[in-house]
Amino acid sequence: MDSSNRQWKLAHRPHRQVRQRDFVATSSPLRSPEDGEILVRNLWLSCAPQMREWMDDAPQASGPPLGIGDVVRCPAVAQVVESRSEHYAAGELVKGLFGWQQYAVVGAQARWGDDGALAREWTGLPRVQRVPTGVQPRLALSVLGTNGLAAYVGLLKIARPRPGQCVVVTSAAGATGSLAGQIARTLGCRVVGIAGSAAKCDLLVRQLGFDVAIDRHSDELVEQLHAACPDGIDVVFDTAQGAVLDACLSNLAKHAQVLMCGAIATVASGTAQPVLGLMNAIWKRASLRGFSAYEFLDKETEALTTLARWVESGEIKVLEDVRRGFDAIPLAFIDMLAGASVGKRLVHLADPTTR
Ligand SMILES: NC(=O)c1ccc[n+]([C@@H]2O[C@H](COP(=O)([O-])OP(=O)(O)OC[C@H]3O[C@@H](n4cnc5c(N)ncnc54)[C@H](OP(=O)(O)O)[C@@H]3O)[C@@H](O)[C@H]2O)c1
Repeated sequence: MDSSNRQWKLAHRPHRQVRQRDFVATSSPLRSPEDGEILVRNLWLSCAPQMREWMDDAPQASGPPLGIGDVVRCPAVAQVVESRSEHYAAGELVKGLFGWQQYAVVGAQARWGDDGALAREWTGLPRVQRVPTGVQPRLALSVLGTNGLAAYVGLLKIARPRPGQCVVVTSAAGATGSLAGQIARTLGCRVVGIAGSAAKCDLLVRQLGFDVAIDRHSDELVEQLHAACPDGIDVVFDTAQGAVLDACLSNLAKHAQVLMCGAIATVASGTAQPVLGLMNAIWKRASLRGFSAYEFLDKETEALTTLARWVESGEIKVLEDVRRGFDAIPLAFIDMLAGASVGKRLVHLADPTTR
């Protein structure tokens, strides 16, 4: 085991878009766990857009803001190296916000909110969770994590589209959108994806079974969307907001449902992107429903069991985009926000050791 721990810390708050210079790499001595703590070694890091929100100096529903000099908070799967807790044994795989670093020392039984830190949605949730046996570690950060849960509950617990209805998915080649589109397809819906390049659109149709995919940069986005959904859109699964959501709002069917899952247009640019066409929601008697996967934790077991079965059977394909090594971490995150990733962007740091 290393005697020091390499870490990426927040050097400056990003001004709008995130840049490499907003982070600084450091190395600090690795401390041993104390009673009740575990020392974990990070194996896989998730590049989650939510992390950009924590870099601003404003409380977010999804967690407290980072301080300057803090290790960048990040969801990760790790292996327990040393345990001073009766709840975890060395060698086990765990998931938590272990951050942009090689190792982390965490309280095994700690819960969000214990220390008074603001994390409204997470209050009471465990800071460390066991990765179930048999689950490939990296899948716990995508389809068998928050992306999968959000896609599943959005479609199966909130919108419940009927076969033949038209579902449009934004950021459709992204971590959540690629799953939402495939789930809508399994429900027998007509699925239209909006993504950031011709190559991504081609992949959505050829590999993931979308009926149509449209490049969000097209000058004719609105016209193409009308052509793809001639009777209007019944369900929008939106992770983008901004201009892409506006295009969808311009073509709603009567009583359409708009699932407001994310706001990557605002998150990626670091500045609020307007949505101008809300009048359409009135004209079409549409429902707009913001939701969070964290509000459906009672459905997590059902969702993850079903998703695991779909992945196993090949019904759902998991798109992954892997960068490797500690040095690659900031850029992996930055260019995911800029649209360079296909599916879930992950950083691989290490393989688990067998004991
Ligand atoms: N409510 C929940 O429980 C929940 C759960 C998971 C995620 N989310 C939210 O959903 C959003 C997406 O998260 P994700 O993890 O699935 O990430 P993601 O879709 O993989 O995000 C990266 C992608 O965003 C797209 N993008 C960047 N700028 C955009 C813009 N201006 N307009 C449209 N698309 C843009 C890019 O794809 P293209 O260039 O191909 O468009 C990029 O590849 C985030 O806001 C996240 O916080 C919410």
